[in-house]
Amino acid sequence: MKPLTRQNQWLRDSPSSPGVLSSSTKLELQRSLQQWYQQQGRELPWRNTRDPYAIWVSEIMLQQTQVKTVIPYYERWLSRFPGITELATADQQEVLKLWQGLGYYARARNLHRAAQVVVMHHGGTFPAELDAVLALPGIGRTTAGGILSAAFNQPYAILDGNVKRVLTRLVALSLPPRRAIAQLWHLSETLLDRTHPRDFNQALMDLGATVCTRHQPDCTRCPWQWHCQAYRQGLQSELPMSESRAPIPHKQIGVAVIWNDQGHILIDRRKQSGLLGGLWEFPGGKLEPGETVEECIRREIQEELGIEVAVGDRLISVNHTYSHFRVTLEVHHCQHIGGDPQPIECDEVRWVTLTEIDQFPFPAANVQIIEALRLCPKPPRFQ
Ligand code: ADE
Repeated sequence: MKPLTRQNQWLRDSPSSPGVLSSSTKLELQRSLQQWYQQQGRELPWRNTRDPYAIWVSEIMLQQTQVKTVIPYYERWLSRFPGITELATADQQEVLKLWQGLGYYARARNLHRAAQVVVMHHGGTFPAELDAVLALPGIGRTTAGGILSAAFNQPYAILDGNVKRVLTRLVALSLPPRRAIAQLWHLSETLLDRTHPRDFNQALMDLGATVCTRHQPDCTRCPWQWHCQAYRQGLQSELPMSESRAPIPHKQIGVAVIWNDQGHILIDRRKQSGLLGGLWEFPGGKLEPGETVEECIRREIQEELGIEVAVGDRLISVNHTYSHFRVTLEVHHCQHIGGDPQPIECDEVRWVTLTEIDQFPFPAANVQIIEALRLCPKPPRFQ
């Protein structure tokens, strides 16, 4: 990494003295961005509506997921839950099923709970005041700004990942963005075009997503090229500065596909709290030091469900990366030998057929297990 020789004046100024961003520079940045957006902005489904509910759904889906992945989910969601009341009164299992594959399932659980709060405390109408929006589960400052600006054209700034990158480059921030969050918020608020906050925020997001990309930013197409400190210093490929992070941990998990004599498979529903809360899974758990996969499966199934199984052939190994760790699921066919399954460490257990299993919401890593089961349904020696 090249040393950053020029200190950043804008960001060293305190919020009470906004620094060298002159009003003419600010107006020029706003004007050029809006002009670029009129010509190059993306046509996205949530931009054809002013319905705060639909915009809220889009903002939550877009929190950790790319636009092209979100679009089909957004469309399916709105046709099943066209309004807040339909979402509030739905069963959580159906909500999670519609979210299946998008990941970060707390987003779906929070959307569902927040819809119930809107029905109970706001008569089913999405609130238009910042404090009330921020009080809803799953809505932080940037999501609130995104919703209020897009739905009501209110002058609230945003600071999502794309916007952080654009602003970091604009001022050639000489710190990793995580260490300058207050200054970046201040900059986003200072730049915001208060007469056109809706279009300004959408434009800023598009600039980050399509031009000022993480790798190989296309500076020749950027409306801010000549104002951009990173470009002027030839640092656009080196910013934002990254923070060295500890390598993410890797866990090995023994997983059981437990068959009974009727050819049914045992699945369990995870507790509401914690990762993947409310989703179904094939039971199992983490390998202890020195333990084989077979020993781990027998122990976990006894501890979690109070039953005895014989561990048979390996079905599949599945690698999956979550935000803070990686897992390898070592999946084995198992035969139920004795005991009645109890929901000791989960909320519910069920015996299901391979046909019924599609009705239940599963995490992506478990969907791969189901696909493997369809190809290789049942070990002959368990028949
Ligand atoms: N990411 C978050 N909100 C977005 C929006 N409204 N359009 C495109 N990407 C986004």
